[in-house]
Amino acid sequence: MGEMQGLARQFHAAGQRVAFVPTMGSLHDGHMSLVRKAREAADLVVVSIFVNPAQFGPEEDYRSYPRDLPRDSRLCADAGVDVLFCPDADAMYAVDSSVYVEETQLSAGLCGACRPGHFRGVATVVAKLFNIVQPDVAVFGQKDAQQVRVIEQMTRDLNFPVRILVAPTLREPDGLAMSSRNVHLSATEREQATCLYRALILAQRLHDEGTSDVGSLRSAMRKVIESTPNAKTDYIEVVDYGTLRAVDVIRGPTLIALAVRIGRTRLIDNLVIRS
Ligand code: PAJ
Repeated sequence: MGEMQGLARQFHAAGQRVAFVPTMGSLHDGHMSLVRKAREAADLVVVSIFVNPAQFGPEEDYRSYPRDLPRDSRLCADAGVDVLFCPDADAMYAVDSSVYVEETQLSAGLCGACRPGHFRGVATVVAKLFNIVQPDVAVFGQKDAQQVRVIEQMTRDLNFPVRILVAPTLREPDGLAMSSRNVHLSATEREQATCLYRALILAQRLHDEGTSDVGSLRSAMRKVIESTPNAKTDYIEVVDYGTLRAVDVIRGPTLIALAVRIGRTRLIDNLVIRS
């Protein structure tokens, strides 16, 4: 912790700009695309790997979350990452920690409604990491669209001197969004998991063909999920991209987001319609 903060001070003293990519490890091409964007934005790239206990609910997969530090370190070295920061949970959270960062509007719906406390855990750890790494720029993935909006709001409201960049979602050839959790899918589940992307592109197509009524779009998406064996919908939502509040009709920039359980694995995906 102190060592990382010391390095950050040295970088700034030498006039070097730092771009930061926070992750929970088990890195895939989606993460590495963030690293490439970071590389273009600054002189030095810092990646953190920390499976953050504070953002997992008691019934969630903190223990079984995939971890592979040796592989992750190789990937980062190959990608020219300058600093890989991997704190352990005891060092990050004092046993008597009592201060949290809570975003109170954008966190309420979507994943926030299904995962109480999740975004408080995310905002708290990202605020801590910003204070430790002291980046000029931080890169987040559109894959976690609500997380992006919460972090943008936190950065603005708490005056972090950090520019937030957003990178597009990287997908497998069949459209499945890359995710560390995909390794939990069996071969059959892996095929079933394409239902999220199929539902999203159907909504996009219906919108492009003139449907702006949200009820029709959601029910078309629901049919795609319900016709997939083993798939259970957590939510299918169409919300204003700024406020993340539900809309009835698509007018301005709109986020279509869904969370679906395939067997025991919970997957999320989204797309933004900029009409
Ligand atoms: P993690 O799930 O490891 O994701 C780290 C970053 O990679 C996030 O910004 C996420 O949006 C991005 N990402 C994941 N899959 C992606 C894909 N297929 N395409 C593009 N980007 C992708 O998100 C977290 O970790 C944590 O909540 C964290 C921000 C590190 C705080 O603990």
